[in-house]
Amino acid sequence: MRRYLIHTFGCQMNVHDSLRIEEVLSASGYAATEAPETADLIVFNTCSIREKADHKLRSAVGTFRELKEQKRDLVMVVAGCMAQQRGQALLDEVDLVDVVIGPDNIAELPALIGHVRGGGPPIARTEFDLDAPSFLQAHASRQRREVSSYVTVMKGCDERCTFCIVPYTRGSERYRTSDEIVAEVRRLCEAGVREVTLLGQTVNSWHEPHEPITRDRPSRFAWLLERIAREVPELGRLRYTSPHPRHVTPELVAAHAQLAVLPAHVHLPVQSGSDRVLRMMLRRYRRADFLEAAAALHAARPGFTLSTDIIVGFPGETEEDFQATLSLVREAGFVSVFAFKYSPRPHTPALRLGDTVSEEIKTERLARLFEVADAQQAAHLQSLLGRSLEVLLEGRSKTDAQRMTGRSERHEIVHVSIPPGVAKQELQGELVRVRCVEANKRSLVAELLEPPRAPSAARIPNPLPTAKSGLRLPLLPS
Ligand code: 5AD
Repeated sequence: MRRYLIHTFGCQMNVHDSLRIEEVLSASGYAATEAPETADLIVFNTCSIREKADHKLRSAVGTFRELKEQKRDLVMVVAGCMAQQRGQALLDEVDLVDVVIGPDNIAELPALIGHVRGGGPPIARTEFDLDAPSFLQAHASRQRREVSSYVTVMKGCDERCTFCIVPYTRGSERYRTSDEIVAEVRRLCEAGVREVTLLGQTVNSWHEPHEPITRDRPSRFAWLLERIAREVPELGRLRYTSPHPRHVTPELVAAHAQLAVLPAHVHLPVQSGSDRVLRMMLRRYRRADFLEAAAALHAARPGFTLSTDIIVGFPGETEEDFQATLSLVREAGFVSVFAFKYSPRPHTPALRLGDTVSEEIKTERLARLFEVADAQQAAHLQSLLGRSLEVLLEGRSKTDAQRMTGRSERHEIVHVSIPPGVAKQELQGELVRVRCVEANKRSLVAELLEPPRAPSAARIPNPLPTAKSGLRLPLLPS
């Protein structure tokens, strides 16, 4: 049997794509291996969103030079955004690579490997499926005992954020029908999955493919969430990533107030707190709009938290602009911040603005931002001490045999002590009530409050009675 090894760089989208690559490979007779010397195929699933993508890929590929020279029939594949971005050029520049394959061409991988194995020259295939979009289906692996899985609801991006290479590497927006999405969520649940994360570059712009959104017909994403909750009631948790702030509609806020299956947390990338910078980034919202959306979400459900992405050192960002970002981080009360130094990316409109903020200033701003964000995160985790949380147990703790690790309803990492005599195997995938007893820098420690109940009974009731919330979801007739 032939064996493959996959290196995954970057985002959740890539993690999801790598799983789909694995499925395509195992369907054509490959088995996974961890040991490169036993591999017949090595796949690099790349990301090009930030700096050094090129360098990272070359050095990763380079580590297998000797192996490739010894083992002539070892096939090396580059997939993901770098593959899409560079295409044929990658084959010309990196001599060890045999196949370059874009995110929309994963299903063709076995055929391309066959072509190379049959003596064909190195080959690149990076065609978007714009005319007949297909979505790779997620299959839960019983072997992996998957508790959590991703379901793609849209791909590509029609935003034109000036710093971002994604519209170039993932193409224009394509949407999946709600029927297909619901069927996939249901299938995953039947296979034992408890948590589904809906995936899309601007996930909350979702609408049915045949019904584009217009000014008087806002995004239908909230309706999709409601439909999944109604039609797949056995689902334990329903997350989504990454939403765009301009598609946080009143209906979406209402969904968070009304649907217990949604978490009390959203990752909502803001990028900057300065209106001037937001305009240059072409984010299509102002600071005040973002703060309004953040306040509405916080009010939707007690204990609701937000995390975000921020870029420091965008071209022309002044100290005053950066101060505005710091104050927005405080005002929005983010409990976690992913922050990056701006890096000029090929094929992006911001390239023509230059890279005007020095490396020293970017480093300094990043450190100041993390100082504020870390303090907020610490205060938030401390505030949970003694409190009861609902944790989805994902597996054994990597560091402590007496504990299992999972995520709270707000996505905090929680290490739960399991009393002796309770079978951990049986708790995997269970939603359990715990009490938080310790706060680490980025995670919590908790003890079981009560033995887990049957999955459906373990669901917490909606914290806000719908009648009082004043926000009613525009339900479709079922
Ligand atoms: N430079 C730095 N950070 C970037 N991101 C996207 N493009 C760039 C860039 N050119 C960040 C954004 C985005 C996250 C996934 O990566 O914050 O939300």
